Amino acid sequence: MNLVVSNVKGGVGKTTTTVYLAATAVERGFDPVVLVDADRQASSAEWLEERPVGGVELVEAPSERTVARAMERHEGLGVVDTPPGDERIVRAAIERADAIVIPTRAGGVEFSRVVATLEMVPEGVPAGVVVCAARLGTHDLEQTVQWWEGQRVPVWGVVPERVSIAAGPEGRLSREGLDLYAEVLARALRRRARG
Ligand SMILES: Nc1ncnc2c1ncn2[C@@H]1O[C@H](COP(=O)(O)OP(=O)(O)OP(=O)(O)O)[C@@H](O)[C@H]1O
Ligand SMILES: [Mg+2]
Repeated sequence: MNLVVSNVKGGVGKTTTTVYLAATAVERGFDPVVLVDADRQASSAEWLEERPVGGVELVEAPSERTVARAMERHEGLGVVDTPPGDERIVRAAIERADAIVIPTRAGGVEFSRVVATLEMVPEGVPAGVVVCAARLGTHDLEQTVQWWEGQRVPVWGVVPERVSIAAGPEGRLSREGLDLYAEVLARALRRRARG
């Protein structure tokens, strides 16, 4: 089974979301959990090298061919980090996904990039958005969640902006972040189970 974390836009929270989903999957008993890094920037790979997460195996796969192989070969749960620009790699990953998690930010300018990502999702494959680095209580956030609901795109999570999450590999994974991403994981997999 593979969860693909994707948004054609850069800097939205893909790598953060991938690492947290993988770590929370270990806590929920998935074994093995394989983090497939399909981004040649290798941000997830560097994160795990700097601060390994017990139970998460790393596979670097920064090409269409390697990401396809990595996703087809492993057992357990794969969580795939994708690059912002390279649409061919993104498509190769999305085509093989059991569910697609789309990190985004609050604000109207973000919608079109998510829609561009959603257009790559094959019929019947569940996809949901996670609003990253959200400022709770803002009008912008409220409007963003409402807009997605209006579009019938499920919001699988709202992760607040936190210094501890922004620290990335410089710090420990935040407990709050792990718990919020556990809900995202459950939603992504529940929708898959229902078909
Ligand atoms: N919940 C959060 N709170 C605070 N900062 C966050 C949060 N989520 C992500 N960030 C920060 O946002 C920035 C972008 O996140 P990240 O690197 O995960 O995005 P990305 O989509 O993988 O970027 P790229 O497209 O370059 O691969 C990072 O500095 C990260 O620490
Ligand atoms: Mg990244």
